Amino acid sequence: MKIILIILVLYAIALTIALARKAPHRPPQKPISRGWGNRMRVLVIGATGGTGRELVRQALDLGHEVTAFVRKPTKLKIAHPHLRVAQGNVRDYASVEAAMRGQNAVLCALGHKRFFWPTRILSEGTRNILRAMKACNVPRFICESSLGVGNAAGRLGLPATLFFVPLVLPFYFWDRVRQEKLVEESDVDWVIVRPTTLNNQPARGNYRHAPNLGSFILPTRIARADVADFMLKQLTDDDYVGSAVGVAW
Ligand SMILES: NC(=O)c1ccc[n+]([C@@H]2O[C@H](COP(=O)([O-])OP(=O)(O)OC[C@H]3O[C@@H](n4cnc5c(N)ncnc54)[C@H](OP(=O)(O)O)[C@@H]3O)[C@@H](O)[C@H]2O)c1
Repeated sequence: MKIILIILVLYAIALTIALARKAPHRPPQKPISRGWGNRMRVLVIGATGGTGRELVRQALDLGHEVTAFVRKPTKLKIAHPHLRVAQGNVRDYASVEAAMRGQNAVLCALGHKRFFWPTRILSEGTRNILRAMKACNVPRFICESSLGVGNAAGRLGLPATLFFVPLVLPFYFWDRVRQEKLVEESDVDWVIVRPTTLNNQPARGNYRHAPNLGSFILPTRIARADVADFMLKQLTDDDYVGSAVGVAW
């Protein structure tokens, strides 16, 4: 039993170091204010998910024109005069490009549940999104990632670092690193938003955001609704353009 625990801890430490090393560092780009004002045409990827649904609702409340990119339109269950639904799959480039035309910005809350074997859903999907953004001249990309990778490796707290990430999420996080690398190497105005562990509680409106957020010891939480609020603020706020930022209560 003791030997298994020691092996697990060594594996967890090695994985954390690998997740930290894989993300390249790139100096933040100069902030670019595009003067769009408060009403924009935004494409929400992963719109039927927990964060995605919040993004759609809150973006509509803010007066944006929203295109929800979904695999199953019936799952969305939101109707609004300024909401358009685009059916597609991030792995199918043509469907991503079709949804991309005419947008000002992309909000990505892509995620999946294929935890236990290698996948490239996040990275392949993000590659297609970035390619379509370039093809359609869409300049701004707000991408939901996670604490636990890059310079935030280990910052989901000790239980996640020692058990949850190494035992449940190694493949997911490995692809997450590839995803972040693609975003960081792209030419768009990007912000990588790294939330801590998510829940579905109501928004508090009061949360912390900083490049070095999260604890190496204690787990933290944040509501998906607050993450969506922060992501939407990044549409018009240039402070974090070209950087990865953690968010937590
Ligand atoms: N759970 C946590 O504690 C936590 C913490 C930090 C970061 N995150 C990350 O935050 C992000 C959002 O998490 P969440 O739990 O709010 O999202 P989620 O409920 O898992 O939703 C994921 C969304 O991605 C969509 N999607 C998956 N594969 C797709 C594909 N091939 N083409 C198009 N759409 C696809 C899903 O569509 P369907 O509805 O059709 O499946 C769904 O709309 C994820 O990347 C997650 O890893 C999670």
